[in-house]
Amino acid sequence: MIDTITVIGAGNVGATTAQRIAEKALARRVVVVDVVEGIPQGKALDQWESAPIEGFDTRIIGTNSYAETAGSSVVVITAGIARKPGMSRDDLLATNAAIVRQVTTEVARTSPDAILIIVSNPLDVMCYVAKQASGFPRERVLGMAGVLDAARYRAFLADALDVSVRDIQAMVLGGHGDTMVPLLSCTTVSGIPVTQLLDRPALDRIVERTRNGGAEIVQHLKTGSAFYAPSAAAVQMVEAIVLDAKRVLPCAAWLEGEYGMSGVFLGVPCKLGRRGLERIIEVELTDAERADLVRSADAVRGPMAALAS
Ligand code: NAI
Ligand code: 2OP
Repeated sequence: MIDTITVIGAGNVGATTAQRIAEKALARRVVVVDVVEGIPQGKALDQWESAPIEGFDTRIIGTNSYAETAGSSVVVITAGIARKPGMSRDDLLATNAAIVRQVTTEVARTSPDAILIIVSNPLDVMCYVAKQASGFPRERVLGMAGVLDAARYRAFLADALDVSVRDIQAMVLGGHGDTMVPLLSCTTVSGIPVTQLLDRPALDRIVERTRNGGAEIVQHLKTGSAFYAPSAAAVQMVEAIVLDAKRVLPCAAWLEGEYGMSGVFLGVPCKLGRRGLERIIEVELTDAERADLVRSADAVRGPMAALAS
């Protein structure tokens, strides 16, 4: 078992991520770092006190310093501000870029061999900020979005079809925003193309709801954004890496020619294992899907350029 996984940010996503990692016993220790004094310490102690009931031995440690994170194998970065009603993910750009730059610099200094999983929004641009700040190769900087977006898509399809979520396989590519690209051509129910089971208007409604999945939760919560499904998605990526599981999951990865694009983080099918990103899989897309993916990359490049200017 690996020694240390770190989670930066002890807010809704970060704390839930730490709890899920501990309950799955994915490391000996989970260290949670936050700038607010007392919050990571208090939450980590509360979580550790759940260990005798839940039956896990992974020690959860809360701290305001990076000393205890040294030598982490995987670091999940959730630090930053979250959306409120009426805010887009891009409204978080300047504030979260400064935060992600600062925390990634600390992580790269204390855990130079870590694999980074970025969660902070706007996701694809924050991955770029983390890659720049860390200087890590693309194999060790990944973003969590596609697993979450595909889970929302699968949940809505399961509702519409009245079947188990376990039998729905789906991929959502592109940036984590309104331009994400749920792939109808890769969506099946136990191998049966979904287009044989639902008509096009019903599928279009589900795709649209998936694109607005984050905003739908913000509308309900009013004071913040989703965290149960996002933390589950981040931990699925952590698990694939620490168990060297070779899972194929949609993740934000730095493109170097794949899908005909370079120099941008975008959600694509990734094989994850102990080395982090082990391969980007290129799926055959329809012309419409390819055009949507290019449009989605352009939507990521805009805020990337805004940060540079
Ligand atoms: P939250 O507000 O509950 O927690 C954020 C935490 O970050 C706070 O505890 C805050 O004190 C901490 N923080 C701020 N600056 C810091 C710094 N310099 N160092 C360490 N900690 C710092 O927010 P929540 O709900 O946990 O969301 C976190 C981020 O994740 C947001 O940017 C949100 O938009 C994003 N998110 C992304 C998703 C995705 O699919 N990629 C899904 C859900 C959330
Ligand atoms: C979500 O999709 C806010 O990005 C976050 O829930």
